Amino acid sequence: MTHFIDILKKRRSIYDLNDQLPITKVEVEDLVKQAVRFSPSAFNSQSTRAVFLWNDDKDRFWKYTEELLQPLTPEEVFPSTQEKLAKFKRAALVILFFEDQDIVNSLQEHFPLYADNFPAWSEQASGIATVNTWVALSELGMGCNLQHYNPVVNKKVATAWNISASWKLRGQLVVGGVESPAGEKDFVTNEKRFKSFGGDV
Ligand SMILES: Cc1cc2nc3c(=O)[nH]c(=O)nc-3n(C[C@H](O)[C@H](O)[C@H](O)COP(=O)(O)O)c2cc1C
Repeated sequence: MTHFIDILKKRRSIYDLNDQLPITKVEVEDLVKQAVRFSPSAFNSQSTRAVFLWNDDKDRFWKYTEELLQPLTPEEVFPSTQEKLAKFKRAALVILFFEDQDIVNSLQEHFPLYADNFPAWSEQASGIATVNTWVALSELGMGCNLQHYNPVVNKKVATAWNISASWKLRGQLVVGGVESPAGEKDFVTNEKRFKSFGGDV
């Protein structure tokens, strides 16, 4: 097993988080900036954007999410939704990942042959940047989980943090210290997932 695979294995969805991080806020932000910077994107378009919400801003994000979800959630389910959101709020940070649609639109205009592909490629770039961030933070012992309260929270986020209209929210990475680790995980067999052709080399 290579060191890289060991690091990949360390990345799990951790839901029981606290606000104690092993490195400073500046170091976390620097690490995330590098993880995003060194992630690939179609035509090197670098369409991924990220916003860090700490402390009161993080708490506000979860309060807004709860307020927006309440009218959309069946009454009997809402207490468990509240519990889940309270857990996210106990973490140190939430990183909002966006994709800049101005870049996607401009690529579609300039390269009409690939116009249909650019939205999907932007989604892929977002996924790559998000998971690279997740892996980088996990390597240093932090716990993360990935949430998707978009599009419910989109308008509120845009007004509360003055986010450009072209930035489309794609995911929220919750980051904290690990209170309790992830459980066992099932894996599909390699036989189901892979095929290999061409004989020996
Ligand atoms: C594209 C994508 C979307 C996901 N969305 C959510 C989500 O909205 N909420 C959540 O709790 N986990 C979400 N997850 C986490 C997966 O449920 C999790 O990665 C999967 O169950 C495997 O567990 P692991 O992360 O511990 O390896 C998402 C993961 C991916 C890759």
